[in-house]
Amino acid sequence: MAIIEKLHVARFRNLNNQYLEPNKNINLVLGSNGQGKTNFIESLYYLGHNRSFKSKNIKDVIPFDEELVQINAIIDGEKTTLNKSRSKSTIVIGDKKITSNSLLSQHLPTQIISPDRGFIVGGTPKLKRSYLDWGVFHNNKEILKTYKSYNKTLKNINAILNGNNQNQLDEWLSKFSLLSVEISNARINYIQKLTKMLEESSLKKLESFVESTQSLEFVLQTGWTKDVDGLNNNEINQYLQNNKNSFIRTKHLGYGPHRASVDFFLDKKNEGFLSRGEQKKLSIVFWMLQVLVLAKENSAPVVLIDDISSELDQNKINSILDFLTNLNIQIFITDIGNKELPLDPRKTNIYRIEKGVIVSA
Ligand SMILES: Nc1ncnc2c1ncn2[C@@H]1O[C@H](COP(=O)(O)OP(=O)(O)OP(=O)(O)O)[C@@H](O)[C@H]1O
Ligand SMILES: [Mg+2]
Repeated sequence: MAIIEKLHVARFRNLNNQYLEPNKNINLVLGSNGQGKTNFIESLYYLGHNRSFKSKNIKDVIPFDEELVQINAIIDGEKTTLNKSRSKSTIVIGDKKITSNSLLSQHLPTQIISPDRGFIVGGTPKLKRSYLDWGVFHNNKEILKTYKSYNKTLKNINAILNGNNQNQLDEWLSKFSLLSVEISNARINYIQKLTKMLEESSLKKLESFVESTQSLEFVLQTGWTKDVDGLNNNEINQYLQNNKNSFIRTKHLGYGPHRASVDFFLDKKNEGFLSRGEQKKLSIVFWMLQVLVLAKENSAPVVLIDDISSELDQNKINSILDFLTNLNIQIFITDIGNKELPLDPRKTNIYRIEKGVIVSA
C-alpha cells in the first residue's frame, strides 16, 4: 500500500518549494480558482507516472522561468526523486536510479478522478483502454512484458506491411495472435474481478451511484471483428491468414487488442443512451471498483480527486468519502471550499493553497 509520508514539490508549474507531511488518510487542499489545486494533484500524478494527465508537453509543467521539474518525496520509507528537464529525466528510488516508468508506477500507484482526464463511460476507446490497462497492470505486473512484446510485434508487422518483403509476415502474425490472446485474457480476468466486486455486499455504500435493483455490466470488445473470438488463437490465426492481402493493401493491421474497448450497460441500456450525469456516475463506480480490487490485494493506490464538489452532489460526495475512508488508503482531495465535506478530523489534514503556496489550515 503506497503512502506518501513526506512531499517536497520543489518545482512544478506554479508550485515552488512546497513541503508537506501528508496525513496517511485524507488530505484536503482548499483554494479558489487558479491558485494551484489542479497543479498540486498533477504533481502527485507526475511523481507516479513521469508524465501528466493534462498535457503531453514537458514545457507546460516546467515553471515559467525555470529549466526543470523537480519533485521529491518519501514514499513507504523510501526517498524518491524526480528531476525532469526538456532533454532528460532522472528518477531515483532509494539509492537506485530507475529508467522504467512502470517501476515508478509500481512504487507510487495512483488513481485519479479529474474532469481534465475525462470519464471512462462515454469516453474514447483509447481512454477506456488506458483506464482498463492501468488496473490490468497493477493486478498482474507480469503482463507488462506481454504488452511490450505485443507493441513491438505490431510495429514489426506494420513495418513489413509497408515494405516490399513479406517473407517473415506469417511468423510475426502468429506471434501477434498468441500475444493478443494473452492480453485479452488478462483484460477479461480483470473485468471479471471488478464485476465480482460489484456484486459483493461491500458495495451497499455505492447505492447513491447504482441502485441495488439496477444492473451494471462491463463488456470487453477485444478489438477483433464480431465474427472472431478474441480469445481463440486458431480463429485469430485463420482470420489473419484470410485477410493478409487486405492488410498488405492497406499497409497496416487495424485489428487486435490495440483497438479494444469496453462497453458499459446500465439495465441493458448501452452507455450511448445514458445521460452525461449517468455516464459520470458509472465512471466513478468503475473507478471505485478499481481502487477496491487493489485495496483488497494490499496494493492500494494513492487516490487523487481534483475539484470534488464541482463534479458531484452532496450525496455522492458523502458516499465516496465514506467508501474511501473505510478503505484506509491515502487520499488527496482538492476543493473550492463551498460545501461541507463530511471528513473525520482525526484522519484528515486540511491545507489551503494560494498562489501556489500551501499552508496547513
Ligand atoms: N508552467 C507553469 N508555471 C507557472 N505557473 C503555471 C504553469 N502552468 C500553469 N500555471 C499557473 O497555475 C495556475 C492555475 O493553477 P490550477 O489549474 O492548479 O488552478 P486551480 O486551483 O485548479 O483552479 P480551478 O479552481 O479553476 O480549477 C494559473 O494561474 C497558471 O498561470
Ligand atoms: Mg483546477
